[in-house]
Amino acid sequence: MDIKSKFPIFKKYPDLAYLDNGATTLKPEIVLEKMNEYYREYSANIHRGIYGISERATEEYESARVKVARFIGAAPSEIIFTFGTTASINLVASGWADKNLKRGDEILVTEMEHHSNLVPWQNLAKKKGLKIKFLPLNGIFLDISDEVLKNLVNEKTKMMAMVQVSNVLGTVNPVKDIIEKVKKINPKIVVVVDGAQAVAHMPIKVKDLGADFYAFSGHKMYGPTGIGVLWGKKERLEETEPVNFGGGMIEEVTEEGFRMASIPFRFEGGTPPIGEAIGLGEAVDFIEELGWKDIMEQEINTYKYLEEKIGGLAEMMGEGTIKILVMKGAHPHDVAQILDTVGVCVRAGHHCAMPLHQKLGLMASTRVSLAVYNDKSDVDKLIGGIKKVNKIFVKED
Ligand code: ALA
Repeated sequence: MDIKSKFPIFKKYPDLAYLDNGATTLKPEIVLEKMNEYYREYSANIHRGIYGISERATEEYESARVKVARFIGAAPSEIIFTFGTTASINLVASGWADKNLKRGDEILVTEMEHHSNLVPWQNLAKKKGLKIKFLPLNGIFLDISDEVLKNLVNEKTKMMAMVQVSNVLGTVNPVKDIIEKVKKINPKIVVVVDGAQAVAHMPIKVKDLGADFYAFSGHKMYGPTGIGVLWGKKERLEETEPVNFGGGMIEEVTEEGFRMASIPFRFEGGTPPIGEAIGLGEAVDFIEELGWKDIMEQEINTYKYLEEKIGGLAEMMGEGTIKILVMKGAHPHDVAQILDTVGVCVRAGHHCAMPLHQKLGLMASTRVSLAVYNDKSDVDKLIGGIKKVNKIFVKED
């Protein structure tokens, strides 16, 4: 598959080894073209104008919703466009949990959450007097033994927030099993899954997972920034309050009050990111045209090659498309800077997951995260860069 030719950035930088896909993916030509078309040819507002270009904008925006729904096996009315994963999770925290949880209730999270699926819960817990409990790590996996779950889950557990694929360790959590197990102990637990690092790498059918809410971003799946999705079960969305009140989310307004629009429109108050939603619809087409079989095969081949080549050059931890490198004697920021000199982009730091780094006993790490356009040539460049780091920093014992 010649995938790089579909991404204009490689025309400008043909030798770029972009390995920071956990932060954001690059954008294919067809997504950029689709957004360009909206901004150049019909950049009107939606759901408002009784004229041709506005009607076209509405049709394209709603068609993106239909594509996203089909992509994750949901109904279009269950798809809410947000600004990204963080906004989606905040909508669950402020719109559902704030209303439905009371002092003393408990929220279960995991020790591998990134800040977007931890800080909203910490904030809510502080405001309402809730308790947060952590499903512990066991190496790079979660400990989901019956004994651990029995100690953590009880009738006070009202909510569980869990990442599907860790943005630091790449661990693919068995969310379906975990949800089954926790709901067996307390069927009333409402579960939100953070799918930000999952949606570009594996087919997701939200209904099979047994979750109540599922959140993800467009920009980590070859779409634009500023657009994300919250999927919610119909009955959960009916229990959720909007957080943005104003134009676009109402049915009728009088001086005395207002009547909300139907779901999902009541959650999309204000002018939404129209061009970005349309771009996300095109990113869905891009993924579906490549096909999951080829996407997964390409990514597996690349990470297997990385595992083979890394040898003793650096300690590597992680599963699947995300790995962290730990190099004694070199700070991750130095590693990333040296890799940049050979055209390799990686992320260095805590990757918005400080508590997880504390658990792993690390101040920071260097992260390699793959996407479908990565191939053996990128791994070779990375390996060359790591040898350069070792030469400069790593002293032999
Ligand atoms: N959470 C994003 C990352 O892992 C920003 O890089």
